Amino acid sequence: MKPVRKAVLPVAGLGTRVLPGAKTTPKEMLNIVDRPILSYIIAEGRAAGIEHFVFVTGRGKEAIEAYFDHHIELEAQLQAKGKLDILDAVLADLPKPGEMSFVRQMSPQGLGHAVWCARDIVGDEPFAVMLPDMLMHAERPALAQAMDAYKQVGGNIVVVEPAPAGETHKYGIVALDGQDGRLNRMTGMVEKPPLGTEPSNLFISGRYILQPEIFSLLADQGKGAGGEIQLTDAMVRLMALEPFHALEYDGVTYDCGDKIGLLRANVAYALQHPELGKAAREAVTALL
Ligand code: UTP
Repeated sequence: MKPVRKAVLPVAGLGTRVLPGAKTTPKEMLNIVDRPILSYIIAEGRAAGIEHFVFVTGRGKEAIEAYFDHHIELEAQLQAKGKLDILDAVLADLPKPGEMSFVRQMSPQGLGHAVWCARDIVGDEPFAVMLPDMLMHAERPALAQAMDAYKQVGGNIVVVEPAPAGETHKYGIVALDGQDGRLNRMTGMVEKPPLGTEPSNLFISGRYILQPEIFSLLADQGKGAGGEIQLTDAMVRLMALEPFHALEYDGVTYDCGDKIGLLRANVAYALQHPELGKAAREAVTALL
């Protein structure tokens, strides 16, 4: 079984659900308490053993590349003023040389197209996909849980969790070949099924481990839901050739590509923050 060393992070979407906030700040750079969302995603990837992050970026997303580079003047100022704890926080997310690549999706044609743009950098090996607007809070990081499942069963892994009641029509939903424990063989996937037609209540929550054969399927994948090239459609085709398992991970997902999801994530992470938690609780309580 080939190890999973690389993660693809598609960040080229327009973020229309969080406009106007995401007009000039990429939505993946919006703040959760004291750091951009992507800072949490990179930490999760590193904790799962990812050695190389491939960002699929687009126009207006330059702040992402800048964030993962030195800011010489800022760092010099913090050093000169002895603000070393802040300097440490600023430096913590920087990559090791060569740990990150950036490839451009020249127009946002959908998640499937974004992942396909990473094909030459990923090459012929299994890889992870991390949707950076899905913040997954878990004791053992979500992608690490997916890696555990991959080591157990190989093939392709899709991380899932129960959708809130009445909300399955908003997500990609999996169909399972029976349900026994948290890791189950999949038989299908459907993007945003009309209420009442969903094959389960488990939605695809933003972390995948995929085999490289997905790329040749994405190459000729036609447009699907919303007129976009959907990753789900290519995965359904791959499922005819290779096993897929759904892992119901142990954790909670916050959809930060949605205004209320972003707010919930901020409140939840603030309340759990080691230094700010107490003050956050007081501030939130005072508002009620
Ligand atoms: P979303 O569908 O949540 O992103 O895709 P979006 O299109 O930006 O969202 P809305 O609906 O307009 O608000 C999940 C991830 O895939 C990326 C997005 O940046 C997001 O992180 N994505 C999506 C791309 O990189 N390219 C695309 O063509 C579409």
